[in-house]
Amino acid sequence: MVFEPFIIAFCCNYCAYAAADLAGSARLQYPPNVRIIRVPCTGRIDVIHILKALENGADGVYVAGCLEGNCHYLTGNLRARKRVQYVRDLLSHIGIEKERVEMYHMSAAEGAKFVEVAKEMTERIRKLGPSPLKGETFMASRATKKNENRI
Ligand code: FES
Repeated sequence: MVFEPFIIAFCCNYCAYAAADLAGSARLQYPPNVRIIRVPCTGRIDVIHILKALENGADGVYVAGCLEGNCHYLTGNLRARKRVQYVRDLLSHIGIEKERVEMYHMSAAEGAKFVEVAKEMTERIRKLGPSPLKGETFMASRATKKNENRI
C-alpha cells in the first residue's frame, strides 16, 4: 500500500489562502493530502501549534505567509519564519527529519506557486514516510474510529 501523507498548511488569509482560492478558481489541482488552516497572519502561529499538529497525526506541516515586506501586520511572517526554524532545530535535536516542517512566502496572485508548494511538500513527505511522532494514542484513536465506522 502506498503511503499517503497527511499535511497541515497554515495559510495567511491575505496571501497563501487567497492564492489557494485563486488556484481553485483557475481549476489548478493540488494534492488532497494538504489540509489548509486559515490564519489572519502567520505571526499568529506559535511553536506549539506546529508541534500539536505533528503530535496529532500530521506527517508534515508548513506555514505559508506573505512575501517579505508585505505582511499586513508588518513582521508577522518574519516571526513565523523564526518559529518554524525553531521547530526545525528542535526536530533535528530529537532525531526527526526537520524537512517535515517548512516555511514558504507567496503573494495572493501566486495560485500556481501555491499548487507547486503543495506538490513539493507532498512529494517530500511521501519520500520521508510516516511521521515517527504519530504516537500510540493517535494510532489507537484512529483504530477506534475505524471500528466505530464498521458498527
Ligand atoms: S498578513 Fe500575511 S503573513 Fe502577516
